[in-house]
Amino acid sequence: MEIEGQGFTLRGWKESDVTALQRNADNPNVSAFLLDKFPNPYTTDDAIWWVNLMSKQDPFLNFVIGIDGELAGGIGIELRADVYRKCALIGYWLGESYWGRGIMPQAVKLVADYTFANFDIHRLQAGIFGNNTRSMRVLEKAGFVKEGILKNAVIKNGVVLDEHVYGLSRN
Ligand SMILES: CC(C)(COP(=O)(O)OP(=O)(O)OC[C@H]1O[C@@H](n2cnc3c(N)ncnc32)[C@H](O)[C@@H]1OP(=O)(O)O)[C@@H](O)C(=O)NCCC(=O)NCCS
Repeated sequence: MEIEGQGFTLRGWKESDVTALQRNADNPNVSAFLLDKFPNPYTTDDAIWWVNLMSKQDPFLNFVIGIDGELAGGIGIELRADVYRKCALIGYWLGESYWGRGIMPQAVKLVADYTFANFDIHRLQAGIFGNNTRSMRVLEKAGFVKEGILKNAVIKNGVVLDEHVYGLSRN
C-alpha cells in the first residue's frame, strides 16, 4: 500500500524502519502530545515491537510517513467496535526536524480519503490536548471541524488538560 503526497510517501512498515523510528520517536517534544502508550524514552525494543506488529497489520490502518526513503513519522486510524463502529479515530506524529513543512495536513487529508474509500466509516474523529495548537491547525487545514472541548479530560506528564474534539464526516 503506497500513497504519494507532495514531498512524502505514505507506505507500509519495514524492518529497516526501526532505526529511524527510534531516532524520530525518542523525543519528549513529540511524545508530550500523544497517548502514554507512545513511550518516552522510546527505545530500540519499542521500535522493534511496533514494526513487528505493523508488518502483520490486516486491514492496513497505519502508515509510515516516508521522506527521501526514510521514516519521518507515522499516521493511522483506529477502528472501533459497538456503537462507535462507523466512527474511526485518527492519530499522527512527525519527527521534530520535519515540522513546519505542511506535511501533516496533507497526510491527514490523504488518510481521510483512503479511509472513506476503503472502509464503511462515516466519520473520523481526533482528540487533541488543549496545549497542542500545532495539531489543531493541522486538522483545521485538513478540513476537520472543532466540535467541542472536554474540560479536564486528560492527564499528560502530570498536567491536567482539556481535550479538543475534532470531526470530519464523509461527504
Ligand atoms: C502536530 C504536528 C503533526 C504538525 O505537523 P506539521 O507537518 O509540522 O504541520 P504544519 O507544517 O502544517 O504546521 C502546523 C502548524 O504548526 C506551526 N508550526 C510548525 N512547526 C512549528 C515549530 N517548530 N514551532 C512553532 N510552530 C510550528 C505551523 O506554523 C503551522 O501553523 P500555521 O499553519 O498557522 O502556520 C507535529 O508538530 C507533531 O508531530 N507534533 C508532535 C506529535 C503530535 O502533536 N501529534 C498529534 C497528536 S493529536
